[in-house]
Amino acid sequence: MGSTGFAVLAEGLAKRYGHTAALAGFDLAVPEGTVCGLLGPNGAGKTTAVRIMATLVRPDGGRVAVAGFDVVERAEEVRFRIGLTGQESAVDEILSGRQNLVMFGRLFHLGARAARRRADELLERFDLTEAAGRSVKHYSGGMRRRLDLAASLILAPRVLFLDEPTTGLDPRGRNEVWAAVRSLVAGGTTVLLTTQYLDEADQLCGQIAVIDRGRVIAEGSPDELKSRIGGDRIDVVLRDGAALPAAAGIIGRICAAEVEVDTDTRRISAPVRERMSTLGAVLSELDGARIVAEDVALRRPTLDEVFLRLTGHHAVEVPA
Ligand SMILES: Nc1ncnc2c1ncn2[C@@H]1O[C@H](COP(=O)(O)OP(=O)(O)O)[C@@H](O)[C@H]1O
Ligand SMILES: [Mg+2]
Repeated sequence: MGSTGFAVLAEGLAKRYGHTAALAGFDLAVPEGTVCGLLGPNGAGKTTAVRIMATLVRPDGGRVAVAGFDVVERAEEVRFRIGLTGQESAVDEILSGRQNLVMFGRLFHLGARAARRRADELLERFDLTEAAGRSVKHYSGGMRRRLDLAASLILAPRVLFLDEPTTGLDPRGRNEVWAAVRSLVAGGTTVLLTTQYLDEADQLCGQIAVIDRGRVIAEGSPDELKSRIGGDRIDVVLRDGAALPAAAGIIGRICAAEVEVDTDTRRISAPVRERMSTLGAVLSELDGARIVAEDVALRRPTLDEVFLRLTGHHAVEVPA
């Protein structure tokens, strides 16, 4: 890789489509061997950034080096070193999983035997060996995405771009794809993935860049980001509204924070630092005070709450 130590180094990227500024001063530095999540709502500019980094679109301004090479000046060098799984699947429905991977291998100029060998390795790695001979149209969503991932890894890229790898998948499919991404990262590939889900970025990424309206508005590890935005919250719903003041006192003391009380729904909400110990303490102290909780939940802030705290506005979707 290049001498910079960065798999991706973007400075001031700009891209306009007519009157829309898809990117407006986009900066990002992704160290080699890490997983970076680009988190943002629909229309934020994620796909545009990925397509520029993958040499598919030219920026109007700014510059970006991938694997040490400028994506405009040295596009060929970049292409040899990257893989891309786009938002839309690139695999052929009619062909089997194995046929798809062999075809991609041939497109990348592997010989017939090498292409077959690579296909089998990747099928094994993504737990698709059993389904390898079946037509892709019979695959589940999770299996298709794993096949997409496999297809982008034919040439063992140094840097892999995954554009919303789990959008549209059910929880099981998401888990399968997450496991596949983790195994890649363990092999040393640098991954830049885009997502609309805070929990996905939290699960997979060492570093998160929050993107809004074409620029990065916050950056850090999941923990840093969560502490900036107030982290997780506990919600407690009481059976009896008369106990709200007493319960609010208990929860406020345990969480060492200001609580929000909604008398209509009899709900108390507070930020938590240590999820499980806070939950345990709240339950046992409420019980000790003979206050009955109808419902208790720990929850992560939603992307919308993150945006609200970081930007003061909701994560509005920019119409496509
Ligand atoms: N090829 C295109 N032509 C016109 N507008 C585009 C094109 N690609 C993206 N845009 C616009 O640029 C903005 C950013 O889009 P995109 O990068 O796809 O965001 P995201 O991937 O975060 O949803 C949106 O307003 C989108 O409508
Ligand atoms: Mg997109």
